[in-house]
Amino acid sequence: MIKRVVYILILFALMFSISEASMDDPRKLLEKAKKVGLKPIPNDPAELKKLIDPKGKLTPEMIELGRKLYYDPRLSIDNTVSCASCHNLFTNGADAVPVAVGVKGRKNPHHINSPTVYNAVFFDRQFWDGRSPDLEDQAQGPMQATVEMAITPEIAVKKITSIPGYVKEFKKVYGNDVKITFKLIADTIGAYERTLVTPSRFDDFLNGNLNALNQRELKGLKIFMERGCTNCHTGIAIGGSMQPFGIASDFKYKDVGDFKGNKDGLVKVPTLRNVTLTPPYFHNGTVDNLKDAIKEMSRIQLTLSEIDDNEVDYLIAFFKALEGRKPKNIEFPKLPK
Ligand code: HEC
Ligand code: HEC
Repeated sequence: MIKRVVYILILFALMFSISEASMDDPRKLLEKAKKVGLKPIPNDPAELKKLIDPKGKLTPEMIELGRKLYYDPRLSIDNTVSCASCHNLFTNGADAVPVAVGVKGRKNPHHINSPTVYNAVFFDRQFWDGRSPDLEDQAQGPMQATVEMAITPEIAVKKITSIPGYVKEFKKVYGNDVKITFKLIADTIGAYERTLVTPSRFDDFLNGNLNALNQRELKGLKIFMERGCTNCHTGIAIGGSMQPFGIASDFKYKDVGDFKGNKDGLVKVPTLRNVTLTPPYFHNGTVDNLKDAIKEMSRIQLTLSEIDDNEVDYLIAFFKALEGRKPKNIEFPKLPK
């Protein structure tokens, strides 16, 4: 009898130690995360400032003016569409429809989905085909695109300079001799966008708080790294570089729209920060839930075996930990009359 109790006790101890060992040690995962290039949004405001404003140009007044321009529909030809129309900062920095819709209900003719502006400051390149190097350059595109805001640089400058409140603010930011140009308008919007970053619990983890993630999230992180998702979804943006798409097989919906990537067929890797909040997915918005997006991703990008449902669930748990805290300066501002 005693022998049997001892035997059962040993068995329990053994089981316990095995399950302990298979639990994911946060310290080891943190080391590995750093090794595969995952980087936190820094806690330290000075360090963050250096990252989002490497040239040291931003001032609070410039950012505030940028916010007004970002929200101002008068920068579209018929005063109906602003940056915020397609990049809603209260939801996810995007628009939640498969295809972007601009002035006069015009749909993007290439069936292109609006990516989020949150954390875009951390991308190597802007746009799905990476055709723009930074936010300031990027911001000139949508204002002129006939399917977005459809304004010309001349009309945009004319409109802004005809609004005394704006002229006053431009002077305040750039000095009394300021010449309001289309480029300066775009640069100022870019300045605002640089502040749109969303630190998450995953950043808390990467910044050294080993309790920031629970066991399911840690397991998801482990799968994310072991499966090689971090070959492309890495760095501070957990994305943002140009990479091949459709490595192991073709994307199921590749023929919806005519987007083929850049001249080398490379596609800008979307950030996975806030990915739980940004359906529909992919450049043409063809996949409307995250489970299917992950499965499609594993089918087309991974040369090893495909991911199973269990792994998908863990990955989603980890992705939830990437939901970030929104910045404070996102409310609709008072626009100059
Ligand atoms: C009609 C909807 C619409 C409007 C209005 C709009 N955008 Fe976009 N935005 C998009 C779409 C669609 C894309 C992707 C286009 C592409 O890659 O070719 C995009 C891409 C971007 C990107 C690149 C993000 C990335 O992941 O590469 C940024 C940044 C951005 N827009 C900011 C802005 C700003 C700033 C404005 C206002 C000046 C603006 N957008 C107006 C729909 C819109
Ligand atoms: C070889 C590079 C590469 C690898 C590896 C990779 N991805 Fe991607 N991922 C991309 C690119 C590029 C896109 C955008 C493709 C498009 O829409 O045209 C993308 C898109 C996604 C999207 C859709 C995001 C959105 O907002 O539209 C999700 C989700 C995703 N990947 C998850 C994963 C997961 C999970 C793994 C690992 C199982 C993984 N990816 C592995 C490059 C990669």
